[in-house]
Amino acid sequence: MSKVIISPSILAANFNDLDNDLLRMQKAGIDFIHFDVMDGKFVNNTTFGVPLLKELAPKFGFTYDVHLMVVNPQEVYKDFINAGANYLTFHYEAMSSDEAVEELINLIKKENCKVGLSIKPGTDVSKIEKFLDKLDLVLVMSVEPGFGGQAFIESSIEKISTLSSYKNNKNFAYLISVDGGINPKTGPRARNAGADILVSGTYLFKSMSLVEDISKLSN
Ligand code: DX5
Ligand code: ZN
Repeated sequence: MSKVIISPSILAANFNDLDNDLLRMQKAGIDFIHFDVMDGKFVNNTTFGVPLLKELAPKFGFTYDVHLMVVNPQEVYKDFINAGANYLTFHYEAMSSDEAVEELINLIKKENCKVGLSIKPGTDVSKIEKFLDKLDLVLVMSVEPGFGGQAFIESSIEKISTLSSYKNNKNFAYLISVDGGINPKTGPRARNAGADILVSGTYLFKSMSLVEDISKLSN
């Protein structure tokens, strides 16, 4: 298994001093930043969007792992890529048809951006099976999307295992990412089931000893 990637979700950062929080992450060896975009329609909450990404991307050399929780990702994908997204993940549930999913995957790839597809806790892996050969990332939501600080949903472990066996059996290239309720109890279990990326918000941004706490998320 390749080295685990930890992707801190800035949803849990201190927005009064975001630069300082991001510098702490950088100093602790973090490469990825998970950027949660909510539109108040796909989920009730509304968060930051293109302007913040535009500001951060040239300032910090992270890999920006953008998670779109919006109803019309096909209308905004280009703006996020132009703003500096390195991975752009949209929700299967936000799309009107499988054809629309396929089309958006192709459009994102055409812009030379890595493409991810996410499923909510209630959506089965079988729904996205036909897209797996085209994806760079599959994001398993281990909480209902909408806000941070929720408890990890157990059935996510099985989804990660299923995605991991597909990947190994068919030589697919996608990274398996898991998002929601990741801490020292759930992180290592998700990792052992085959997760390549652990997204963590509340746990990491609350940490007082980051290097040590990051290491507790896997192994
Ligand atoms: C939830 C977001 C997550 C969330 C994770 O809709 O997609 O990225 O911020 O936060 P924690 O780690 O607090 O569950
Ligand atoms: Zn997220």
